[in-house]
Amino acid sequence: MPSAKKLLLLAGDGIGPEVMAEVKRLLAFFARTGIARFDVEEALIGGGCYDAHKVAVTDETVAKAHAADAVILGACGGPKWDNVPYDVRPEAGLLRLRKDLGLFANIRPAISYPALADASSLKREVVEGLDIIILRELTGGVYFGEPKTITDLGNGQKRAVDTQIYDTYEIERIARVGFELARERRNKVTSMEKRNVMKTGVLWREVVEDVHAREYKDVGLEHMLADAGGMQLVRWPKQFDVIVTDNLFGDMLSDIAAMLTGSLGMLPSASLGEVDAKTKRRKALYEPVHGSAPDIAGKGVANPIAMLASFGMALRYSFNMGKEADLLDAAIAAALARGLRTADLKSDGTTVVGTAEMGEAIVGEMERLAAA
Ligand code: IPM
Ligand code: MG
Repeated sequence: MPSAKKLLLLAGDGIGPEVMAEVKRLLAFFARTGIARFDVEEALIGGGCYDAHKVAVTDETVAKAHAADAVILGACGGPKWDNVPYDVRPEAGLLRLRKDLGLFANIRPAISYPALADASSLKREVVEGLDIIILRELTGGVYFGEPKTITDLGNGQKRAVDTQIYDTYEIERIARVGFELARERRNKVTSMEKRNVMKTGVLWREVVEDVHAREYKDVGLEHMLADAGGMQLVRWPKQFDVIVTDNLFGDMLSDIAAMLTGSLGMLPSASLGEVDAKTKRRKALYEPVHGSAPDIAGKGVANPIAMLASFGMALRYSFNMGKEADLLDAAIAAALARGLRTADLKSDGTTVVGTAEMGEAIVGEMERLAAA
């Protein structure tokens, strides 16, 4: 039996626990068949953690995240916590984990499964065969820049300030991840910023150009203003291979990219830190791009594919289990090809199933493919 791999599962709020249950089903399959044994710990994050401890994530959980080989997260937030203090709002737990673990590289692949080409709001020919990556800088920019304040000006007016900051090293390291990813794919990077209005955009482009000229001349590089990039993403997304962009633009562009694939319930993500020179390991957190979907929480109808595919990215990037990750992707494609759809993906001639049935079908396909 291969040595134990340490997982920290943070199911979170809303549909988080429902989709995480399908990851557990997959873990049980791995254990049962001897493919891999994982050491699993679980903890609270987000609103559930606030209810229990008055913070969005505890120091103890952050320490466990540091010690884990991979953190697997469901979703944070919901209307129940709309009025809790800003510092302890559910999302603060996730943001603290990203920052404390140094997870600067957020890989968000958008892949159109053949069976779902008609589920997109765009025409089939626009999305069919789509396979792109949005690489989002995750620990800098306006998400974390200080000052971040609302001040009462005393004249009946208030002033809100957010601060966008990027240092050279932050742009360099995310650019490198982008070029490395592209080398393994179709060898093309598109960098997106707003240099026409933002100083951070000016520096972003300059640094990406420098890294390219110094280390990655063999990779194709183009630049796009982020607004034009959003337009191009819905006009002809297949022109892209790897899009590298900052924290805020990446947040928005990845939601757009998710919808190209048919549903926000399809997009996984991996958030990675720097590779440790000694251990060759990197801190990592895997989470679906979708949120907690409070409107459908508790009904057993959520799509578990983004969550399962996020775990697939953990197999690939944290556990060197590329074969099993490929198998999982194939199992997802096979379940979809059988006509099974969660409610978010339903179309004529398909069978609508719940979260657990979809998870069961995928694990079943996995079992079949593993035995083949
Ligand atoms: C995402 C989410 C988060 C973000 C929220 C929940 C803080 O939208 O991961 O895309 O803005 O980064
Ligand atoms: Mg988002």
